[in-house]
Amino acid sequence: ASIAFVVPAAGVGARMQANKPKQYIQLGNKTVLEHTIDKLNTTIPNALIIVAISEDDAYFPELDLPSNVITVLGGKERADSVLNALNYLTINHVVDWVLVHDAARPLVLPNDILKLISTCQSNQCGGILASKVRDTIKQGSHFVDATVPRETLWQAQTPQMFLLNELTSALTNALNAHVAITDEASAIEWAGGKVQLIESRADNIKLTTPDDIAIAEFLIAKQTL
Ligand code: C5P
Repeated sequence: ASIAFVVPAAGVGARMQANKPKQYIQLGNKTVLEHTIDKLNTTIPNALIIVAISEDDAYFPELDLPSNVITVLGGKERADSVLNALNYLTINHVVDWVLVHDAARPLVLPNDILKLISTCQSNQCGGILASKVRDTIKQGSHFVDATVPRETLWQAQTPQMFLLNELTSALTNALNAHVAITDEASAIEWAGGKVQLIESRADNIKLTTPDDIAIAEFLIAKQTL
C-alpha cells in the first residue's frame, strides 16, 4: 500500500518571535524544514512529500530539497493547509496512507516513524506518535482546583497516520462543522474513528518558543554524530 507524507509549513510561528517563520530557522548546518524533510526521506526514500506553504513564502525557494518534494498552498489554519495537501494527493496520486508531520518537528527519529507505520498497517487502524505525560498535572486558574491523574494522559506528537480517504472526509466535515481541530487525530475522533497511541520519544518536540531552538540545536547535533 502506498504512503505519502504531508508537511504543514504554512504557519507564521508568531510565538517564536523570530524574524522569519520557525521552519526556516537555522539548526546547525540546515534549516528546521530541511532537517524535517531529511528525516521523512530517510524513513521512506523517495516517498512523496507534500509541503503546504504560504503564498508569499520567500524562504522556501532557497531550500535545498530532494525532487520528491511537491508544494501546495497552505490555508488559514493548520487543518486547512493539511486538507489542501490531501485534496492534491487524492486528485493527482494513488495513495492509501498519509502521514502528517509538523514542519516544526525536526527531531523525530525515522525508527519511531517506522514503528508508527508498521503498527497502523498491521492493525489496519490509524495512529499517532505520542509521549506519556511525565509531570504531575494541575488544573486551575490561579489556584489548584485539582490534580489530574496522569496515568492515561499523553502528549500528541506527529507524524499522525491515517487512510487518505478517512482523514480527508473527517477533516472536511469537522471544518464544515467549525469544530476546533489542532491535530489530525482530533478530526478522526470527532468523526467517531479510532486512533492508536504509539509511544515515541519525549524529545520529538515541536519548536514553539525561542527556548526550544537551543534545545533542538543540541539534540540535532547529537543525532547527526
Ligand atoms: O502553530 P503551530 O505550531 O501549531 O503549527 C504547527 C504546524 O502547522 C507548523 O509546521 C506550521 O507551519 C503549520 N501551519 C500551517 N498552516 C497554518 C498554520 C500552521 O501549515 N495556517
